[in-house]
Amino acid sequence: MVEDGSPDFGPARYGDSFADVYDEWYDDVSDAEATATFVDRFGPSQRLLELGVGTGRLSTPLANRGHWVTGIDASLAMLDRWNGVAEPLVSMAVGADMAVLPFADGLFDTVLVATNTLFNVNQPGGQANCLAECHRVLRLGGRLIVEAMVPAPPDPHLDRLVTTRSLTVDTAVLTATVRDAANQEITGQHIEISEAGIRMRPWKIRYSTPAQLDEMAEIAGFRLGDRFADWDETPYTDDDSNAVSVFVAV
Ligand SMILES: C[S@@+](CC[C@H](N)C(=O)[O-])C[C@H]1O[C@@H](n2cnc3c(N)ncnc32)[C@H](O)[C@@H]1O
Repeated sequence: MVEDGSPDFGPARYGDSFADVYDEWYDDVSDAEATATFVDRFGPSQRLLELGVGTGRLSTPLANRGHWVTGIDASLAMLDRWNGVAEPLVSMAVGADMAVLPFADGLFDTVLVATNTLFNVNQPGGQANCLAECHRVLRLGGRLIVEAMVPAPPDPHLDRLVTTRSLTVDTAVLTATVRDAANQEITGQHIEISEAGIRMRPWKIRYSTPAQLDEMAEIAGFRLGDRFADWDETPYTDDDSNAVSVFVAV
């Protein structure tokens, strides 16, 4: 809770909720090697910044391919689980909020923000600030790569959902979500039920459509270079539920 009694959905909240299970639950959320191959197309030995580096799931294969990776994350609990590769290929900024980047101008060739992480910036205007910061820390011609879901059209029947994430003899994990379409927010709980009791893992995202993302990026000083449906460069169509967007700093 924060001082006014409302739930704390600050920058560290998501990571602190999921750190102990992130690698187990989300190891296969996307293909990390395919992500690294996608980034490789922009050249060898890139100075790369990953926002929301988490446990290093993506940064580790990127560093292994010879990129100079810097990762930031607001959650110390996530970074504590980090299984990174040898210094100096990867360095981390602890406790940093990706809406305010603690780096000098023009330092990076590439900024990567994957796995819906941009939508974790859930304060109004926060994502626009984040994109402006990405532009500031990129060199001219550098690339911002954003992987995020494409929100489904609002549907009152789907605004409140409970689904089963996993079910074993010992443990059930349910996912409960409430979508506030007017504010483009989804608040959720992963509810883990076992003999040990009930463990709640709350989270909140603010989603943007691809058109809104493009508009924020353009205001920040980017032009859209490419958009794909996945890391394998499948061409993007309006029916896709995921988008990998490549913005070029101009
Ligand atoms: C969905 S996880 C993605 C982790 C990793 N990039 C991956 O793909 O596996 C999102 C990460 O972003 C971090 N995060 C969320 N909001 C943040 C913020 N405002 N500033 C910095 N990190 C944030 C969380 O702590 C978490 O580690």
